Amino acid sequence: MEIRKHYFETIDSTNLEIKRMASDGAAEGTVVSAGEQTAGRGRSGHQWKTPMHESVATSILLRPRVEIENVSRLTLIAAMAVADAVENLYNLKTEIKWPNDILVNRKKVCGILTEMDAKDNRVQYVVVGIGVNVHTREFPEDIRDKATSLDLELEKLGGDVVPTSREDVDNAIWYYFQKYYDLFQETEDLTCILEKYNQRLVNRNREVRVLDPLGEYTGVARGMNERGELLVETFGQLRAVDSGEVSVRGIYGYV
Ligand code: BTN
Repeated sequence: MEIRKHYFETIDSTNLEIKRMASDGAAEGTVVSAGEQTAGRGRSGHQWKTPMHESVATSILLRPRVEIENVSRLTLIAAMAVADAVENLYNLKTEIKWPNDILVNRKKVCGILTEMDAKDNRVQYVVVGIGVNVHTREFPEDIRDKATSLDLELEKLGGDVVPTSREDVDNAIWYYFQKYYDLFQETEDLTCILEKYNQRLVNRNREVRVLDPLGEYTGVARGMNERGELLVETFGQLRAVDSGEVSVRGIYGYV
């Protein structure tokens, strides 16, 4: 895959722009990044605030040869790419809250929103949108306790701090993403990231509550498998959790 980048100072949402470009026939690897989003979108219909030049807001257009049920694996690949980018640029230790929140010191620095367009049961295109808090100092009240930024975490370390750059973060993310995506396309599974992902998995050996529509239950997360499922041990049995939300206790203090 070849990456082609576009930058907008202001845009409604980089995910929306990629969708518009996709409808006009844009190629796989098209990336849109923005200085500011006026209608940034998070998961579950939430807003995602992107004030001017505070964070990375970037999305990619993919036209992968994968089955619809495997598209969510791309989000896990993206999570891995962001974690690699942050660790290698700034030497900040990252953890991943399954499936795709990147944490530094147990607080969220990055969110990922993957959207798909399908026709006749086939994937037309996928948008993977990534938001990283880089220079952010103030967060809305409702997420203040669980959100952080690269600058805030680097300052805590004290000493000589490498100045962060949104452009560097953006470039590094797509560098690592491209590498993992090419490997992923060969197998359609997550073998290429599995070991490293599980090392970073904050949920590992922790109690999680699985919000399964067929019935909620509690168990202990043991790791992710190559299908991207979280293995949760409950009453001595391992259950593979694919869709449905898993909420984690004891991570954000109040959760
Ligand atoms: C989450 O809720 O954790 C996911 C947040 C995803 C935000 C990114 S910012 C770039 C891209 N454009 C959007 O509108 N959303 C994603």
